[in-house]
Amino acid sequence: PAQNGQNLRSPICCIMGHVDTGKTKLLDCIRGTNVQEGEAGGITQQIGATYFPAENIRERTRELKADARLNVPGLLVIDTPGHESFTNLRSRGSGLCDIAILVVDIMHGLEPQTIESLNLLKMRNTDFIVALNKVDRIYGWRTCRNAPIKKALSQQNRDVEILFNDGLKKVKNQLQEQGLNTELYYKNKEMGETYNIVPTSAISGEGIPDLLLLLVQWTQRTMIERLTYSDEVQCTVLEVKVVEGHGTTIDVVLVNGVLHEGDQIVVCGMQGPIVTSIRALLTPHPMKELRVKAIKFIVFGEMLYAGSSNASSLRYADISFCNAANHDIHLEGTYLHHKEIKAAMGIKITAQGLEHTIAGTSLYVVGPRDDLEEIKEAAMED
Ligand code: GTP
Ligand code: MG
Ligand code: NA
Repeated sequence: PAQNGQNLRSPICCIMGHVDTGKTKLLDCIRGTNVQEGEAGGITQQIGATYFPAENIRERTRELKADARLNVPGLLVIDTPGHESFTNLRSRGSGLCDIAILVVDIMHGLEPQTIESLNLLKMRNTDFIVALNKVDRIYGWRTCRNAPIKKALSQQNRDVEILFNDGLKKVKNQLQEQGLNTELYYKNKEMGETYNIVPTSAISGEGIPDLLLLLVQWTQRTMIERLTYSDEVQCTVLEVKVVEGHGTTIDVVLVNGVLHEGDQIVVCGMQGPIVTSIRALLTPHPMKELRVKAIKFIVFGEMLYAGSSNASSLRYADISFCNAANHDIHLEGTYLHHKEIKAAMGIKITAQGLEHTIAGTSLYVVGPRDDLEEIKEAAMED
């Protein structure tokens, strides 16, 4: 990754937007997976992290720009839920990322959680790209599987072109009402002041090459300093989960620095700081998501398995997400073991004594010259 003598970490990109705009499906399309159809009621109820190595991004964007120069090792993408009851998870996701993709359904325009997501991004001054998704739903759309969007649009007839332009214009106006100038990315002459729009289809893949290339090129061009690799560990706990055979584990996002097996770590616990050492560092395979299918939810004091037949008939608003009782039933597929891992990455950590870790807080590594008491205090301030 050290082209130009740069030592950059992978950018972290968070996918946000209203429920059912296609956030998870976009990721499925890029990964070649089918996570979305396995979700209870088809809605995302936790944060997921997926690592895309630079080679995969190069492969996927070849048609657009054969000589795309990628200076980052890859891209870490964080999926968030769009349902209104998960504001805390959207906030956690947006707090971690370098850039976001705001997904808008071209048929629906801006919706309540689109605006909520926008406000979270504005509050943190986070740059973002608008994915104007579901273009394939425009009446008469001619599929151009995985094609760059300009090429796909050039294949459409006049009626489709008119409908597309109407949808685009409506969304641009709605964003203008939120105080944002936006433009189709390949027409955007004021990148940085005017936000980019990339039309996409998560079903047939049009615009996906554009979205990936823009993400990587924009971040590596405008965020060099922020993306410069540092030895100082920056790491956030996403979820606390019980995994069969592993006990209580934590899923973390390593934003910067490196973690090693055996590192002494400190996390924030419900009854005080937890000091332990990393037993195992696990990641899913590249292009696979750090999250598992079957989890338990507490619904009015009852245990329900997500994915069971009655889970889909729940009223979504009745689902209260409960970290303390978030037990995995089994691990889907196998995890890769690592001696050490460099940022950015989504990682499952196994260690003793993690039972009462509080999700959303920072993980600290105790170095040879560090004062443990100071770190314990810092961990509890989160
Ligand atoms: P939450 O995570 O629950 O907020 O939803 P989401 O934004 O992740 O949307 P999801 O991926 O679950 O997609 C919602 C529905 O829209 C599914 O039925 C998808 O198959 C469908 N869908 C998503 N993207 C597209 C698209 O580009 N075109 C079409 N035709 N359907 C899509
Ligand atoms: Mg989703
Ligand atoms: Na959904």
